[in-house]
Amino acid sequence: MSEIFDAIVAREKQVFMPMVRRWPVALERGFGSRVWDVEGREYIDLTAGWGVTAIGHCHPELVEAISDQARTLMQTTNIVYTKPQLDLAERLARLAPRGIHRSFFTSSGTEANEGALKLAARKTGRNRFVATLNSFHGRTLGAMGCLGQEKYRGPWKGIVREASFVPYGDADAVKAALSKEIAAFIVEPVQGEGGVVVPPPDYLRRVADACHAAGALLIADEVQTCVGRTGRWLACDHADVVPDIVTLGKGLGGGFPLAAFMATEEVMAAIQPGDHGGTYAGNPLACRAGAAVLRVIEAQGLIERAAVVGKDVLARLGAFAKTEPEKVECVRGLGLLIGLVLRDPAVALRVHAEARERGLLVNLTADRVLRLFPALNIPDRDLAQALEILEACIRSQS
Ligand SMILES: Cc1ncc(COP(=O)(O)O)c(C=O)c1O
Repeated sequence: MSEIFDAIVAREKQVFMPMVRRWPVALERGFGSRVWDVEGREYIDLTAGWGVTAIGHCHPELVEAISDQARTLMQTTNIVYTKPQLDLAERLARLAPRGIHRSFFTSSGTEANEGALKLAARKTGRNRFVATLNSFHGRTLGAMGCLGQEKYRGPWKGIVREASFVPYGDADAVKAALSKEIAAFIVEPVQGEGGVVVPPPDYLRRVADACHAAGALLIADEVQTCVGRTGRWLACDHADVVPDIVTLGKGLGGGFPLAAFMATEEVMAAIQPGDHGGTYAGNPLACRAGAAVLRVIEAQGLIERAAVVGKDVLARLGAFAKTEPEKVECVRGLGLLIGLVLRDPAVALRVHAEARERGLLVNLTADRVLRLFPALNIPDRDLAQALEILEACIRSQS
């Protein structure tokens, strides 16, 4: 590490809470699917700011929209009407599955899930939830009560109200867990943080039917899978399922903190003014950013591209996996949310570090799953180079 980097680490140690186990990288700027650190070293970014920079870092149209809005009106109370909020809500209503066209905006995915849980409780008059093992829904207390991973939820058991947890992908288990107390089943249509797990094709349809038979709602947490990440607008669209409530985040703001929860007319009718809110809910700057992201995604056909490119990556990595069967267990995913599952967590850690040294940023989740969630418009050349690096790093492990 250099003096510049060491100085940053030393400064941070004085003032920052040690909440994050950081990579030894200090980034300074980004463009498209490339980022540069404080020493000018270049990386291909398969993390896309954790699945956020859907149209790449610093996309000119997004930068222009944010700059223009910053000069015009950055923040108001949500008590007044603003055009950016309305524009974004209209765009979302047009893109969303039929019947689910009411939006409320928040700044983060976890807040969107809080709103969704409250809305489900309001609609059903019930106050318990069912969620899946290995899920991730966010770090605030309500969402964390539904987070199916001990390592995150465990330390806070005393202060979170825990959901009932069922294995992911098992519709019968959901059916068995539903009761007159259950307001909703909350589920990621593809588990992201849990290791990029794609459920059986009939799963969402079966859990939707089970929820409705039991008088409960289906909440789809699409914070990670929204805005085309999986090759459809929402991942639920693959199964032709319209959830009662859906939450969006990450790619929606393209890097600007923005998330949303959306619901059907029927669910929305239960809402009373004041049920939810927030100082930054519907912030004009964030909403203008969201509308710009969606405009670019639509204009450039990035949802369709994610589907095609994702299939190519799955095919390529699938072929590669066959050449390294003792190191690679499998490759799985949907669109541009892909998990390369290694057999040994220690090897996965080494691959992860070596990739970084060779100029590739990639996420390691669920101990041994290299999660690829790049920008939807990652250039072919960058993607090919990234995969070459990844494959070389795996091959070089003994
Ligand atoms: C499926 C899912 N839900 C919710 C969240 C929480 O979103 P945020 O970190 O914006 O609060 C995440 C974050 O990774 C996520 O992947």
